[in-house]
Amino acid sequence: MPLPDLEAPADLLVETAYAKVNLALHVRARRDDGYHAFESLFVFAEHGDRLEGQADADGAIDLVIDGPFAAGLDTGSGNLVMRAAKALQDYLGTERGARLRLTKRLPVASGIGGGSADAAATLRLLARLWDARIDAGELAGLALDLGSDVPACVPSVTQMVSGRGEHLARHGVAGLEGLPMLLVNPGVAVSTAAVFSGWDGQDHGPLSADSLDQLIGAGRNDLERPAMALAPAIADILAALRGRAGLKVARMSGSGATCFALFDDDAAMGRAADAIRAERPDWWTMETRIRSA
Ligand code: C5P
Repeated sequence: MPLPDLEAPADLLVETAYAKVNLALHVRARRDDGYHAFESLFVFAEHGDRLEGQADADGAIDLVIDGPFAAGLDTGSGNLVMRAAKALQDYLGTERGARLRLTKRLPVASGIGGGSADAAATLRLLARLWDARIDAGELAGLALDLGSDVPACVPSVTQMVSGRGEHLARHGVAGLEGLPMLLVNPGVAVSTAAVFSGWDGQDHGPLSADSLDQLIGAGRNDLERPAMALAPAIADILAALRGRAGLKVARMSGSGATCFALFDDDAAMGRAADAIRAERPDWWTMETRIRSA
């Protein structure tokens, strides 16, 4: 446990960029604008990247990135955190700036929304830091310009998401919140665009998520097959997860390569995680739970 930072300045704000998991993702159609129409149940983990921010007296926005997955990340204007900050600054027409620190704990380009969650956390943090008068609809509009998954990451609660990511509806499913969830990533980054373009064009039907049993039994991730073609390690992860005692479901999240597994209880998750880490110390794992709304 880190000790509390007694030197922390009073104006330092902190947000968690919660990892996003698609419990099911049904791709329905290729659209004329190059995006795909999908239906997906988005849930969020209790853990994620950490974002800290404090006011910058000169009105500048700057970013430092640390943490286990910081290597190679651009801290310049192309970074989604910087783009989110700039978008909000422009939208509000404010002269105020911010010094931001992102602690990157989630693997990059891994289907759990790391960059999208970071952008959403930036919007939430700066709206607080700058006392912005901005409603949820305006924030969602800014968010969609930053990426398809960013609007859902702003509230980071369980939602049924459709369109290309702009249609959001809060969607509680009994028994889901608080469930132990293990995330496993093989250390292979996959491109969302490349995975979507490998979709075979077959619409296998809508997503119904009225109950956990329905999500588990009839839910799919239609991107699993094209993602596995690019990253065969996804099949290895699913094989390593399936058959574990206390497992409810194991599936890929988003466009991969991270897979998730839901367990009956913490003990079952812990045993599976220990076994997988012993077999594959090169894989990244995170033991977490589904975040409550
Ligand atoms: O919106 P975002 O920038 O996250 O999407 C990255 C890429 O993933 C898009 O350029 C597109 O190729 C693909 N995509 C898609 N359909 C979606 C979301 C993303 O085809 N609904």
